[in-house]
Amino acid sequence: MSKKPIIIDTDPGIDDAAALAIALFSEELDVRLITTVNGNVSLEKVTYNTLRLLKLFEKNISVAKGAERPLIEDPIDASNVHGETGMDGYEFEEPDNSLLLEEHAVTAMYKEIINSDKKITLLPIGPLTNIALLFRLYPEVKENIEEIVLMGGSSGRGNSSVMAEFNIHADPEAAKIVFSSGLPIVMAGLDVGLKALIYPEDSEQLKDMNKTGHMIYHLFKKYRGGSFNTGLKMYDSCAVAYLLKPELFETIDTYVDVELNGAMTKGATIVDFKGYLNKESNVRVCVDINAEEFKKWFIDSIQKCN
Ligand code: RIB
Ligand code: CA
Repeated sequence: MSKKPIIIDTDPGIDDAAALAIALFSEELDVRLITTVNGNVSLEKVTYNTLRLLKLFEKNISVAKGAERPLIEDPIDASNVHGETGMDGYEFEEPDNSLLLEEHAVTAMYKEIINSDKKITLLPIGPLTNIALLFRLYPEVKENIEEIVLMGGSSGRGNSSVMAEFNIHADPEAAKIVFSSGLPIVMAGLDVGLKALIYPEDSEQLKDMNKTGHMIYHLFKKYRGGSFNTGLKMYDSCAVAYLLKPELFETIDTYVDVELNGAMTKGATIVDFKGYLNKESNVRVCVDINAEEFKKWFIDSIQKCN
C-alpha cells in the first residue's frame, strides 16, 4: 500500500519527540516536511530541538520555521513541563542545520501541498498558528488536503487553564480559523491524551531498546506532563496513533467551536455532543482510547526506530 503523505507541525516538546520518532520510522507515513511553531518553548528552541531530533534519528527531512508568536494572544509556554530547553534530560549532538529551509513554514507548506500529486494530511501537534496562517494566505491549498489530524482540545476540562487545553489555549484565534476551515478534522484531545499513559515499567523497556528509546527514556525522566511514576501523558502520540491505528479510538462526529470571549474560558473547545447549537458536525472527536493496546503500540513503534 502506498505511504500516506503528511506534514507535521510541531513544538518539541518531550511528547512531540516521541510522536516524531514514531511517525518518521513508520512504514506507512511519508513525512514530506516538518514545520515548527512557538509553543512549549520559543520558536528558536523548538526548531533547534526538531533539528537535533532529526540528527539523532538520522532522517533528512526538510524543516521550516513558522510563527514565533500567536496571532493575537501573548505567548505562553510549557517550560515548566518540558524544561527550559523544551527537551531537558538528554545530551543531543549538534544538529545538521542544512535541513532548515530559508522560507517560512507557511510558504513551505503551501509549496509542498500545492505541488503534491497526492492529497496531504496535516498533523499539527502544537498550537495552530501556522495552519491558520496557511489557510488565510493560501486558501486554495484546501483542495489538496486530505484531512487534519490534530492533538488539541478537550470535551471537558483543560490542562493549561480551567477549561482550555494547551495547544488551543496558546492560540485560540488560530484554532477558531482551523476548526471553521471546512476540512475534515480529527481531534485527539485530552479525552484520550490523559489516558494514553506510559508507566515506569513501560519506560524501562525503552531504556536499552535502541538509540531512540534510550533518548526518550531520559527525556521521560525529566518530563513533568504527569510524573514518571504515576504515568506520562503521550498527548502527541495519540494523533499519530489515530493515523496508524484508528481502531484504538472511539470517536463521535459532532460540532466543535472555540471560545474566544469568555473571561475565564478563552481557548476552551466547545464540543456540542447534544446539538444545542444546531450546527453541522465539523470534527471527529476522539472520546476514548484502548489504553492497554495504546501502550503496546507505543512500545512496538519505538522498537522500529533506530
Ligand atoms: O496539551 C498537550 C499539548 O501541549 C501537547 O502537544 C504538548 O506537546 C503541548 O504542546
Ligand atoms: Ca506538542
